[in-house]
Amino acid sequence: MSKKTSSPASPPSAIWGGRFAAGPTELMQQINASIDVDRRLYAQDIAGSKAHCKMLVRQGIISKSDGDAILDGLQKVLEEIEDGRFPFSRSLEDIHMNVEARLSELVGEPAGRLHTARSRNDQVATDFRLWVREALDRLDRDLVRLQAVLIDQAERHADAVMPGFTHLQTAQPVTLGHHLLAYVEMYGRDRGRAADCRRRLAECPLGAAALAGTSFPIDPHSTARDLGFERPCANSMDAVSDRDFALEYLGVAAIVGVHLSRQAEEIVLWCSDGFSFMRLPDSFSTGSSIMPQKRNPDAAELVRSKAGRLIGALNALLVVMKGLPLTYSKDMQEDKQPVFEAADTLALAIPAMAGMMEGAEFDRERLRQAAGRGHPTATDLADWLVRVLGLPFRRAHHVTGRLVRKAEARGCGLEALSVEEMQAEETGITDAVYGVLGIDNSVRSRKSPGGTAPENVHRAVADARRRFLKRPPGD
Ligand code: ARG
Repeated sequence: MSKKTSSPASPPSAIWGGRFAAGPTELMQQINASIDVDRRLYAQDIAGSKAHCKMLVRQGIISKSDGDAILDGLQKVLEEIEDGRFPFSRSLEDIHMNVEARLSELVGEPAGRLHTARSRNDQVATDFRLWVREALDRLDRDLVRLQAVLIDQAERHADAVMPGFTHLQTAQPVTLGHHLLAYVEMYGRDRGRAADCRRRLAECPLGAAALAGTSFPIDPHSTARDLGFERPCANSMDAVSDRDFALEYLGVAAIVGVHLSRQAEEIVLWCSDGFSFMRLPDSFSTGSSIMPQKRNPDAAELVRSKAGRLIGALNALLVVMKGLPLTYSKDMQEDKQPVFEAADTLALAIPAMAGMMEGAEFDRERLRQAAGRGHPTATDLADWLVRVLGLPFRRAHHVTGRLVRKAEARGCGLEALSVEEMQAEETGITDAVYGVLGIDNSVRSRKSPGGTAPENVHRAVADARRRFLKRPPGD
């Protein structure tokens, strides 16, 4: 960096420059400026300013003609930014001062009245809430689409038998539809968390001004309404201080990231040669530059990894906020980057998961073979001994264990043992036992509420469509 770094720049041109004899050094400008990040708040900043301006006119705090000039100018600024014609400037620090400075160039003196009864502190808190509110709505839309894709696949494979795992060891047969609907529930709760966050975020900080409120006769209820908030914040110091709405958004994002990551890991496993349960569509697979036969699940691996960024973003803002005394401190300017990064990450990862799952093909034969390995119906046999013969479960567990040993020694499944072989371990066993052995019988019998039976899955699909796909966002 040049000498400029350490020497003060010439006369102060900043909006707050009145009390300073010299301007900031270039390094100071660099560390202070947030425009490269917070320019993404431009639409919210202008919407907030328009609402504030209209309120000032309604309350007789500024004149109607000044108000009209300001609204006109703000609209022009908005158009300039959207057309890519806006001259963003780092020396104007942030989006608020960039917009205000340009407004002043466009409309002259009235622009200086917009900041009456307002501070950048309540301004940024408002803008950011508006931005996070939109991000929550986007998140909800993306999650609904992912749920819809999963529900369709679950319906297609309501009766496809596959191994259910604990410890990644075959445990009991389940249906693929049931497995996929497990994720539909998780994403459903993620949407619920987003809706909760949106509800708490519905308070408008405008009117808090710097921290203490204002002596002007403002009407914060009307600005709140205008901007789609339910009410103004109840406490001006809280209004400019807290960023818990951003933390909650990041908390939701991190949990979504963890859910996506677990599902992505299953895709990676299920596409591997050892499992070969599924195949990703070509549109979501990549090849190897050296091994022509390879078909890599890169998208799934990347979705798996994105949880790292999302958890990191939550962590970053929690650490920024901890220990900050009331009210505003410049530390809080660091709140936007993690939120923007989380939103960008989710905007890629959720549609990528939906795309992978929409085109995924499952090898039902292979799933069925895998489900039959490792005596997965041993629990069904033990349950039968309890239900039909009245054995205590512990004894039934023991008898079943001995029968599993027998089957293992013969290299066959439990259903291939003869009834005599079984009676050698427990005299009461009859032919009726075969009704619960075999993987299809096993899954068909699991009809308890929330269980894996195909008939349950069909009902659960209809239920999930009703619960998750017909609801307005944010409800
Ligand atoms: N760019 C600032 C931020 O994002 C705006 C608020 C500045 N307020 C202040 N008192 N310096 O936090």
